[in-house]
Amino acid sequence: MILNISTADFVCSNTDYKKCPQNEYPEYAFIGRSNVGKSSLINMLTNSKGLAKTSASPGKTQLINHFVMNKETKPWYLVDLPGYGYAKVSKSKIQKWQKFIQDYLTKRKNLINIFLLIDSRLEPQKIDLEFMEWLGENELPFTIVFTKSDKLSKVRLEQSIDRYMFALADTWEDLPPFFVTSAEDKVGKELLLHSIALTNKLVYGES
Ligand code: GTP
Ligand code: MG
Repeated sequence: MILNISTADFVCSNTDYKKCPQNEYPEYAFIGRSNVGKSSLINMLTNSKGLAKTSASPGKTQLINHFVMNKETKPWYLVDLPGYGYAKVSKSKIQKWQKFIQDYLTKRKNLINIFLLIDSRLEPQKIDLEFMEWLGENELPFTIVFTKSDKLSKVRLEQSIDRYMFALADTWEDLPPFFVTSAEDKVGKELLLHSIALTNKLVYGES
């Protein structure tokens, strides 16, 4: 099944889940460490350069950003979230960040899946593992998306992903599904959109 995105539009940005769009369209959120490539991935998926704002320095995305796909037909939302683990953010700001993101993730009713982005070059980082534990405790479904795969050779990439999933097997009985992507080389787009299409089908039906 090919998921065709005919239109992709910015809707709004805020820090309060209660002020997020009221339509209960199927929604998919992108989260992960600062600079991991969340905004770039959203641009890749939507065939746009500047829909989500990207930056070489971490901490670019600060708000909950809603984008609506296919608003004229069967709409669904992509959500770009601020990154975590950005050292220069002050402690009080981190706590505030955690609170509004936690509220959004746990209380947003139409949020169907969370895509958790992980830099494919890195070995498992404590902050990501802890975040996954938190998602598990809150029974929030998530999918891992390995990013920046263009930065590794094919062999190194495979080794890195094997190492990651092997480490997860220590604590997770069922391993989460994962995708391998590169916003740079447009890798992983079809598979990721396909998985969203399958879920949207459950909401909207076949045709
Ligand atoms: P915050 O909003 O700060 O949390 O960051 P983010 O996760 O949204 O990252 P963003 O998409 O802004 O990308 C961060 C940097 O990584 C930018 O310089 C991007 O060009 C670069 N980048 C993102 N994806 C890829 C990729 O697939 N390959 C390569 N080589 N670079 C990438
Ligand atoms: Mg961003």
